Amino acid sequence: MKKLEIIIKPEKLEMVKEILDANGINGMNFVNTMGYGKQNGVIKSINGKEYKIGFVPKIKVETIVADEVVETVVQNILDEVNTGQYGDGKIAIYPVEDYIRIRTGERGNAAL
Ligand SMILES: Nc1ncnc2c1ncn2[C@@H]1O[C@H](COP(=O)(O)OP(=O)(O)OP(=O)(O)O)[C@@H](O)[C@H]1O
Ligand SMILES: [Mg+2]
Repeated sequence: MKKLEIIIKPEKLEMVKEILDANGINGMNFVNTMGYGKQNGVIKSINGKEYKIGFVPKIKVETIVADEVVETVVQNILDEVNTGQYGDGKIAIYPVEDYIRIRTGERGNAAL
């Protein structure tokens, strides 16, 4: 199993949910977050004046998935979420040692 930590623009959340659903992924959670990447924030023009905004709002999606679906999910995100603009986000992939459904005690892939 792997944990995917997917940071996206907020307006892409529904699209990511559809990708997860289409790949048979049964659960996820997300948090609203703020951060910066390589450009170290953004410059916004308001009433003709330029302001530097250091932290940009993003959504962080976390989902635990079977190893077999990881590459398909990543490819679907690259195909559908990419706008070609700065700030499209990042995907981190972590190994998951175990996963446990509290109701039944099932572990590993059975708990997904
Ligand atoms: N190295 C990092 N560690 C932790 N979080 C990061 C890192 N880089 C980016 N982020 C998070 O991801 C968000 C989006 O990053 P972003 O897509 O702008 O990355 P980037 O590396 O600047 O890529 P791009 O050049 O396409 O903009 C940031 O706002 C921040 O929340
Ligand atoms: Mg960036």
